[in-house]
Amino acid sequence: MKVFVPTETISGERRVALVPEAVTKLCKLGLDVSVQSSAGSSAGHDDDQYKTAGAQIVSSDSVASELAKADVVATVRPLNPDVAKTLKQGAITVSFLSPTNDLETIKALSAAGVTSLSFELVPRISRAQSMDALTSQALCAGYRCVLIAAERSTKFFPMLMTAAGTVQPAKVLVLGAGVAGLQAMATARRLGAVVSAYDVRSSSADEVKSMGATFIDLGLDAVEGAGGYAREMAQDRAKAQQDALKPFVAAADVVITTAAVPGRRAPLLLTKDMVCAMSAGSIIVDLAAETGGNVEGSVAGEDVLVDGVGGTVTLIGARDVPSQLAVHSSKLYAQNVVSLLTLITKDGEVTPDISDEVIAGSALVFAGEVKNAIAREQLGLPALASPAEGN
Ligand SMILES: NC(=O)c1ccc[n+]([C@@H]2O[C@H](COP(=O)([O-])OP(=O)(O)OC[C@H]3O[C@@H](n4cnc5c(N)ncnc54)[C@H](O)[C@@H]3O)[C@@H](O)[C@H]2O)c1
Repeated sequence: MKVFVPTETISGERRVALVPEAVTKLCKLGLDVSVQSSAGSSAGHDDDQYKTAGAQIVSSDSVASELAKADVVATVRPLNPDVAKTLKQGAITVSFLSPTNDLETIKALSAAGVTSLSFELVPRISRAQSMDALTSQALCAGYRCVLIAAERSTKFFPMLMTAAGTVQPAKVLVLGAGVAGLQAMATARRLGAVVSAYDVRSSSADEVKSMGATFIDLGLDAVEGAGGYAREMAQDRAKAQQDALKPFVAAADVVITTAAVPGRRAPLLLTKDMVCAMSAGSIIVDLAAETGGNVEGSVAGEDVLVDGVGGTVTLIGARDVPSQLAVHSSKLYAQNVVSLLTLITKDGEVTPDISDEVIAGSALVFAGEVKNAIAREQLGLPALASPAEGN
């Protein structure tokens, strides 16, 4: 069966769904792999490397016909709806695909009779860890956003004792201690900063401490949802958290925000007045800027300058952060794709089994039917008769 990797089309996206070493692994499973010419160039791989790994190279002129005959189409970002509708019935797509933000694509995939496995929905069970692209990409984002902050900060991160005097280490506050937040803490610690963090989940205190950071106990109730995730909090709980966090934010040189609630807009953690209470030269990186923002006024892909105490605070709305590490983020993502395809390939045939928990969880669309409850609600489709039929 044929696996095709087209070039990513969203502006600023530098990753590629398969790197050459991943192509070789799929060929060993008995699959034929084709890759659009230059698809890997922003991620450090040229066409010759893909050919050596066993892929066929498809020129831009032949992409439409390749898409129409592919059994599997692997991308990082969701296909655009015009492309999705050209896939053949029974084809399989593997990509990030959001049940709330990609509704036009989901409609087109469903109309084409396609099965779409979404990395946003892979269950977080140990058997599926190697397929967890949310984790692999959050790891990249958490590391990179600290470097963005360090590069823009007017202060050293480490403590320095010099003949010209002692420099105190920077104080970095990380809000949200999931995969990205923990990686941000580890990176800031390696650079020598003094790191503290807060998260609403009760298990996060120990995880924060294991990174060498200090957990801030605000004395508030934990807010936990299903599957180890946080849930959306009530307005008064959110306000109490903002009030309690205000002095910690004001004392920080750098604030990294990474908070998210699955299927919801990112929670607002920092109001404008909390930002204004920070000192001149402070940096905020809002890693949630693309999903609504953790910081009032942040704009994805833009720097917003805010009047702080004694001067300007820079609020950086992060965008395409894993893409900025395209070589390694693609390598990790490609292994996630290989692991997922390995699960559903037998004797060179790709046949996703909906009775498998991983596939049942990941299949946003299965054989043309939208399975995800949130997507069904957003599209005005009736709920499926039994929860076991969907995800
Ligand atoms: N395979 C696995 O078992 C697996 C893999 C990855 C992550 N996890 C776990 O899943 C959980 C979620 O991780 P994630 O990185 O996907 O999270 P995420 O991206 O959904 O959210 C990031 C963090 O924001 C926190 N958050 C949400 N609302 C907040 C608020 N108002 N204030 C402060 N923090 C807030 C969440 O608790 C979470 O830790 C973690 O417990 C993580 O360890 C498990």
